[in-house]
Amino acid sequence: MYNFDEIIDRKHSNALNTDGFRKYIFHADDSMSFPYSDEDLIRLWVADMDFATPEVVMDAIRERLDRRILGYTQLREEGYYDVFRTWCRERYDWDCPTDKLLLSQGVVPALFTLAKQLCHEGERVLFLTPSYGPFLYATLDAGREHVCSDLIERDSRYEIDFDDLERKASDPQTTLFILCHPHNPTGRVFGREELERIADIMQRHGLWVVSDEIHCDLLRLSQSHIPLAKVMPDYDRLITCMAPSKTFNVAGLMVSHVIIKSDTLRAQWKESNFNFTNPLSIAASQGAYERGAPWLDALRIYLDESFSLVADYLAEHLPEAKFSIPEATYLAWIDVRAYCDDNLNLPLFFANNAGVLLEGGDAMFVHQATGRIRLNIACPRAVVAEGLKRIVDALVRHHR
Ligand SMILES: Cc1ncc(COP(=O)(O)O)c(C=O)c1O
Repeated sequence: MYNFDEIIDRKHSNALNTDGFRKYIFHADDSMSFPYSDEDLIRLWVADMDFATPEVVMDAIRERLDRRILGYTQLREEGYYDVFRTWCRERYDWDCPTDKLLLSQGVVPALFTLAKQLCHEGERVLFLTPSYGPFLYATLDAGREHVCSDLIERDSRYEIDFDDLERKASDPQTTLFILCHPHNPTGRVFGREELERIADIMQRHGLWVVSDEIHCDLLRLSQSHIPLAKVMPDYDRLITCMAPSKTFNVAGLMVSHVIIKSDTLRAQWKESNFNFTNPLSIAASQGAYERGAPWLDALRIYLDESFSLVADYLAEHLPEAKFSIPEATYLAWIDVRAYCDDNLNLPLFFANNAGVLLEGGDAMFVHQATGRIRLNIACPRAVVAEGLKRIVDALVRHHR
């Protein structure tokens, strides 16, 4: 019914994935060349998908186009909120307070705004590491310092060091905690007990908490997502970020949800943002949440099978690599330190020696990322298989 094996040409569509990697990964211009032509590169990097956006989303956009006028737009229709509330109820058994929902052009832009609004001079931002780079960039852009609480790795499973988190959260200068749940890059889905402990620490020390839940729909079949807001329903200093962008492959439409409990902060946000939106984007988002569930369920099966392929291939051909199938996301976080030196520039090494574009290492993630690569496997399985083969061959050659 859905063809996730289809190879779709994205070149010359202004896609960051195909046409923007030199600048984004290598901070280089178009003159940078590799032993592989651009056509031969396997792209397992930026977190969007090489699968077609669901047809029901395209239909919703077409239906909006049929209204024939694309003037200034602000989200007002109750129907939109109803659809998202139903989604949250059905998927996470959570009664989302949609009266507190605001739109942002992305979760990252929201993080940049919130870091400035919530963390004042001399204060610090805390997050779990390894971390998605923009948590740090938002902190730096606000002119603030960051504090890392390293996750503890046990058999490729990452767990929160609660003593460390408590110690760092108890510093009065640490006023904002950004949680990534599910966690990029490790793929952890934090369970109820972990979330309750996080909530307890944050509540006792009065931190602002931004819970970035952008990956919450992309769960393995065995997993379920508990929004942090469900665990701390009365905490006013909590902001939840969710979005259709990763879930339905509509990142380019730039629409995401920011659920702000605090009336004061919500008012401040409304004042500092123009609050206009793109009519096609909200049509797409509503269509996705209203009609996209069957597509998402099929996608999750496909991703689960691709992750099994990754696990089996690595176990057989790169046995010293440390990897376990992530509980969520379409991102494989693999520790290849057994095969290379800590100072190897991993994205450059794999681009040059395997013709694979990937992210990894401390230059792209915050802390605890040395010798780890992140593969985006949301692409046709034949591409994943070829990418894996090339990665493994390059590492084995390098290690010899
Ligand atoms: C944890 C996390 N937050 C936010 C984003 C990007 O959000 P947006 O495209 O809505 O700015 C990503 C994309 O990879 C992500 O992994």
